Amino acid sequence: MKEELLQIEKKASDEIETIRDLSELEQFRIAYLGKKSVVASSMKQLKALPPEERPEAGKLANRVKNRLQKLLDEARNRLESGKTLDDSLLDVTLPGREPARGTLHPITQVLKEICRIFVRMGYSVLTGPEVELDYYNFEALNFPKDHPARDMQDTLYVSDKVVLRTHTSPMQVRVMESQPPPVSVIVPGKVYRRDSDVSHTPMFHQVEGLLVDKGVTLGDLKGSLTSFVHQMFGKDTSLRFRPSFFPFTEPSAEVDIRCVICKGKGCRTCSNTGWLEILGSGMVDPEVYRFVGYDPEIYSGFAFGLGIERIAMLKYGIDDIQLFFKNDIRFLRQF
Ligand code: DAH
Repeated sequence: MKEELLQIEKKASDEIETIRDLSELEQFRIAYLGKKSVVASSMKQLKALPPEERPEAGKLANRVKNRLQKLLDEARNRLESGKTLDDSLLDVTLPGREPARGTLHPITQVLKEICRIFVRMGYSVLTGPEVELDYYNFEALNFPKDHPARDMQDTLYVSDKVVLRTHTSPMQVRVMESQPPPVSVIVPGKVYRRDSDVSHTPMFHQVEGLLVDKGVTLGDLKGSLTSFVHQMFGKDTSLRFRPSFFPFTEPSAEVDIRCVICKGKGCRTCSNTGWLEILGSGMVDPEVYRFVGYDPEIYSGFAFGLGIERIAMLKYGIDDIQLFFKNDIRFLRQF
C-alpha cells in the first residue's frame, strides 16, 4: 500500500503540470481524490491492516491526500485567475540578463591613476586652456622667437599669437604667475600637434608636474619620479635618467624604464635598446622664473611632463595609438 501511495503522489504531481482547463482539472480530481480514487480506497483498506501497521499507513495516506488536495487547489486558483499553467514555466530564480554597463575610457583610467599617485604625494590637480597664447606655450617657457626648439613641436596656429597648446607646460607659467611659492601641482589635459602615425595623433593627453620651494634639488626630482614609476609600473621596474634638452629646464633629463614587454632583453617595442622613454623632466630654468617674478636665488624646483597615451600603451601592451580614438567597442570593453 505504501508503495502504491507514493507512486500515485508522483504521478499526480507530474500530471497536474499538463492540465490546461477546468474540465481537465475535474477529471484529475475524480481520478485522484474522488470516491473511487486510489487514495479513497487506500483509506478504506486501512481498517484491514494489522493494528500495529495502521498508524504509519494512516499518516502516509493522509499526507498524500493533503498534498494532492493542495496541488488541486493551486491549479484551480491559477486557472480561475485566467493564467495558464504555462506561467509555472516562468522560473523567477533564473539569473537575469546583465545590463550593458559602460566603462571609463582607458585614457581616462590611466589619467586618473597618475593623478591619484601624485595627489597622494601632496600635489594638487589643476587644468588650463587648450587654446593658448604663444606667450605661455613658448615665449615664457624660454622658447625665443625663431628658436629651433619650436620646430620640435608641430604647432597648430589659430593666429599669429594664439596656438592650440602643444604641451601642458604653459600651465607652469600660469600657475607661478598666479601664486607665490611653494607650488606643487599636476595638470592633466589635451594637447595638439600636426602629426599622425602609429605612435602619434593630432590630439593626445599629457600630465604636467611642477614643484617649486626653497632648497628643491635634482635629488628630489629623482626621488619623486622614481616613486611614481614604481607605483605605476611596479616596484621592480628599473629606470634611468638620461641627459636631454628642454628650453625651460636646466639641467634636463628624460626618464626611461626597463622595457615592460621584453624586460630589457631587446624587442620591437623598445627598438632593441631594452629601454622605453616615458617622460621629460628637469630643474626649472632660472629664465622661466624671470617671467613670473620668482627669485631664483631663493627658490628652486623641478618640472616634468608625461604622455598619457604612451603610458597606457606600455601598461596594457597596445601597439597602435589610433586604437584609443577609434571608439571600437570591442577594444574599449577590455578595460
Ligand atoms: N613639454 C615637454 C613636451 O611636451 C615635456 C616636458 C619636458 C615637460 C620637460 C616638462 C619638463 O615639464 O620639465 O615634450
